Amino acid sequence: MGINIEPVGATTTLGEGPHWDNQAKVLYYVDITNSTVNKYDPATKKLNTVKIEGGPVSLVVPIKGKKEQFVISVGRNIAILTWDGKSTAPTKVETLCSVDSDEDKIRNRFNDGKVDPTGRLWAGTMGPESKPAEVELGKGSLFSFSKDLKTPTTHLTNISIANGLAWPHDRKTMYYIDSLDLSVDALDYDKTTGKISNRRKAFDFKTNGIDAFPDGMTIDTDGNLWVACFKAGQLDRDWFQKVFDYRWLGPSVAELGSYLAELMNSVHYLLSLPPCMVIQVNPRTGQLLSTVSVPSPQTTSVVFGGENLDELYITSANNHLSQEEQKKYPYAGYTFRVTGVGAKGYPMEEIQL
Ligand code: BGC
Ligand code: CA
Repeated sequence: MGINIEPVGATTTLGEGPHWDNQAKVLYYVDITNSTVNKYDPATKKLNTVKIEGGPVSLVVPIKGKKEQFVISVGRNIAILTWDGKSTAPTKVETLCSVDSDEDKIRNRFNDGKVDPTGRLWAGTMGPESKPAEVELGKGSLFSFSKDLKTPTTHLTNISIANGLAWPHDRKTMYYIDSLDLSVDALDYDKTTGKISNRRKAFDFKTNGIDAFPDGMTIDTDGNLWVACFKAGQLDRDWFQKVFDYRWLGPSVAELGSYLAELMNSVHYLLSLPPCMVIQVNPRTGQLLSTVSVPSPQTTSVVFGGENLDELYITSANNHLSQEEQKKYPYAGYTFRVTGVGAKGYPMEEIQL
């Protein structure tokens, strides 16, 4: 059986944070720009949406044993949402803690967040973003939270766009993405203390000719990662110069910057990788294993779901696409259900409060 991909739900401006509820067999995800939490039920194909005031909301995780309660982020806050899963307004939103309240970080917001295998919530922040992936550099941090979610601990600082998180089954490693590093990183992870250390590159987008920003990710039961590619096939050729600003090093280095950018585009072209995709990578060897082509150039995150946890749900964004792109990708911003990928995931962790 081959791969089949179908758009589900409705389009989002910046779809994110998918969470498959393995008990209820429904998918939760957010739209950051519109500050909504969405529930999609594949059995009925019904979509329910709740608007969260004072957002944006970037993550949603159900609370164990409490059908109508969820942990969400609202701007720089972590909060509890009470929602019946149907109404367009929440019953209640109660803030538990805030991060990044220093003057220079006050305009930050949370981005990706997830619960680790011991039930601990992790979430990262990013600075203001003028256009997709154009942010004030190094403003974000990565946090974990105490069991009652009232106390954040800072683990990493100087992050540009805090994104994908995943833990393999051995509970000794954590995978993490800062999108602007163009890599998936591995860290040693101590499940008892929740401390991370020894950050290193596990998969490099540039050396593998992937012309995109790494975004959200998930892990399969073989320990391979599935990574959403944001702005696939559209990376600005000047990106190298912009981020590293080779010019201050002199004209010959600036030339090298342009050369590298060109080279990256050519490698991508030669390999004929599908322009819009989610990729499967082996983080232990740094190898690209497979690609899933998606009819949306800005995929933002991916999770395993479905009856047997062998389907992928992929969120995407339609923000800042040109009219031409909107025409070319009528399903930009949709969430996609993919079957036949030949891999399975683990049930996602919920929050125990
Ligand atoms: C963020 C977007 C950002 C993108 C870049 C997403 O997780 O929510 O704001 O443009 O990552 O990859
Ligand atoms: Ca993301």
